[in-house]
Amino acid sequence: MFKRIDAYIRPEKTHAVKGALQNAGIYGMSFTEVKGHGRQGGTKLVGRSGPYMIDMLERIQLTIVVSAHNVDETVTLIQESAATGETGDGVIFISPVEDVVRIRTGERGAKAMTYSGDIDDRRQK
Ligand SMILES: Nc1ncnc2c1ncn2[C@@H]1O[C@H](COP(=O)(O)OP(=O)(O)OP(=O)(O)O)[C@@H](O)[C@H]1O
Ligand SMILES: [Mg+2]
Repeated sequence: MFKRIDAYIRPEKTHAVKGALQNAGIYGMSFTEVKGHGRQGGTKLVGRSGPYMIDMLERIQLTIVVSAHNVDETVTLIQESAATGETGDGVIFISPVEDVVRIRTGERGAKAMTYSGDIDDRRQK
């Protein structure tokens, strides 16, 4: 059982989040530059002709697929390393993944998800 975690984070937090995950042995991840907004609909700036809304805020979408038993730890690490306490800190979505195939080897499932020295490998030692 695998889960996909999609975290929308502040671009300036990318380095800290990546470091926190790597320290814990969570290695595989994708980063995508995205634009969007949350429930405030963006942020208000004041220009010379008055206030205006910026509703396309730059964020990084961090996508990580992990074994289901690693979801809580992964989410906690992201939350702790991405937070400033201000609105716009981001959101995290968690969804199910049916299977994983490593293209090079054809391995599927848990085998395809294991890396030497990763979070699960460390637990076994
Ligand atoms: N429901 C959603 N679906 C898809 N993307 C979202 C959703 N909510 C937020 N995002 C993405 O996350 C980014 C950060 O959202 P944001 O932190 O403002 O969420 P929020 O729910 O408004 O939380 P807060 O109240 O802390 O601001 C947005 O710029 C957008 O890219
Ligand atoms: Mg918001």
